[in-house]
Amino acid sequence: MITVTPTGAALGARITGVDLSQPVDDATFAAIENALHQHEVVVFPGQTLTPEQHIAFSRRFGELEHHVRLDRCRPGYPELFVVSNIIENGKPIGSQDAGFFWHSDLCYAAEPSRGSLFYAHEIPMQDGQPRGDTLFASMTAAYEALPDSTKRTLAGRKAVNSYIAGYSRERKSGPRPQLTPEQRAKTPDMPHPAVRTHPVTGKKCLFVNEGYTTEIVGLPAEESRELLQSLFEHLKQDRFVYRHRWTQGDFLIWDNCSTQHRAVLDYELPLRRRMERTTLRGSVPF
Ligand code: OGA
Ligand code: MN
Repeated sequence: MITVTPTGAALGARITGVDLSQPVDDATFAAIENALHQHEVVVFPGQTLTPEQHIAFSRRFGELEHHVRLDRCRPGYPELFVVSNIIENGKPIGSQDAGFFWHSDLCYAAEPSRGSLFYAHEIPMQDGQPRGDTLFASMTAAYEALPDSTKRTLAGRKAVNSYIAGYSRERKSGPRPQLTPEQRAKTPDMPHPAVRTHPVTGKKCLFVNEGYTTEIVGLPAEESRELLQSLFEHLKQDRFVYRHRWTQGDFLIWDNCSTQHRAVLDYELPLRRRMERTTLRGSVPF
């Protein structure tokens, strides 16, 4: 029997009573999917998974993405994107600076990811406390709370998401390597509805983010900049946010339509952090 316990924040629930290393029966899987749609982020504590088991459970949701940066995937597993600060033989084993701005995964793609499944292999600990939390914000709650006038301004409008703009942002960890022409060609600027409809729940979700959204199409440049800035401030308020403190073995799923997330950089080597992510294929936002 699975048990779903809401976090008490605007989003998020813990799910216990299921071992994700084993095949999950259809009824249990349906309960998990329902919990994800309802709570937007779900965490399964205390899982022990091989890479194959992580991938097999992820595939229950559908097709998986292969990340644009294959050099950041687990060797031999193009489905497993590694997020880590660890350097081995002089080379980073994964992406060292993923997600330090509010964003949702693949928001700059024609078909942004439906959801991501993140497994905590190693969590940095300082004085017995975990570091490197992840913040999640509910885009259904953030949209719902907007003034009617802002809802009207956004209705029917598109916003441009730019992988290149997000990639090139200044980061505490220093500049990133230049993207190759092939990587740039794969990631043209992408207009999407500024407010999208969740394909399963039908709820409206604010779909602009600090990491990648550069403009709201059809507004004068100044108005677009100011509106985006006020939306970015609005959506990160505590009342819309769940802050996840990681424990090794946590397996967490977030919905990339109804939420956005941001990594907290409050640790450095020799404290090690190593996470792996599978990324669900999504559909064209509407
Ligand atoms: C990601 C991401 C945040 C984190 O993997 O998509 O944004 O806390 N990670 O590592
Ligand atoms: Mn991310």
